Amino acid sequence: MILQPGGFAPHPLSLTELDNRQDRLLIQMFFLHPKAGLCPNGAWMKMESLTDLLIDGLQEASDAEQQLLEVLPTMSRVASSEELQEDFSLHAEQTGAQLKRVENILNELHAKPIGGEPAEGMRGIIAEADRLIAEAPQTDPAVFDAALIAVAQRAEHYQIAVYGTLRTYAQILGATEALEPLRLTLNEEVEMDRKLTALAETAVNLDAAEADEQLQQEAIGEAEGSNAGELSGSPIK
Ligand SMILES: [Fe+2]
Repeated sequence: MILQPGGFAPHPLSLTELDNRQDRLLIQMFFLHPKAGLCPNGAWMKMESLTDLLIDGLQEASDAEQQLLEVLPTMSRVASSEELQEDFSLHAEQTGAQLKRVENILNELHAKPIGGEPAEGMRGIIAEADRLIAEAPQTDPAVFDAALIAVAQRAEHYQIAVYGTLRTYAQILGATEALEPLRLTLNEEVEMDRKLTALAETAVNLDAAEADEQLQQEAIGEAEGSNAGELSGSPIK
């Protein structure tokens, strides 16, 4: 990939400015990269590789958002819990806006929205969601919602990792135009993940556990019935 004109200006950044361990690790890894180095005045030189990584990552994020945008309306439709339906519906709207943000940043970089590696990680998660949706009619509604939350959280965690890395690249590169939209999207993904965790912990998983209890009771009832049948049929000595 070629660095496009208008790429980001090098931005000197000290490790203490970085707000978490992941950021510090990334900048240390970048410093160890054979193409990276520091000018005598402390500013970064040779930013090509990191700008390329930023563009690749943005293209991957764009592909991931498009894939998610296709499945979220169905997830909202098939969820049993009204709250979960609303969460998925809200996140479908957010995903549309997030996709636009990524495309705008790529536009500013004169890069195509698609062109790098496709988001294979998201493809696997979406395939799992599709399998789950196909099994919906045979699944207990509460258990189905619990499984939907689990798959949605995998998608969120994947995106949190992607956007967390992109935000760090933008921070290192001093790309303020990209930084704010990336932060906004990252916050939305984290917030949605928290909402899903809260919903799972307070309602959905508890309902799903009730389905387990009911199954256990039925199994006990069947076993008792079968034992009683055996006893009544046994010869009297
Ligand atoms: Fe997203």
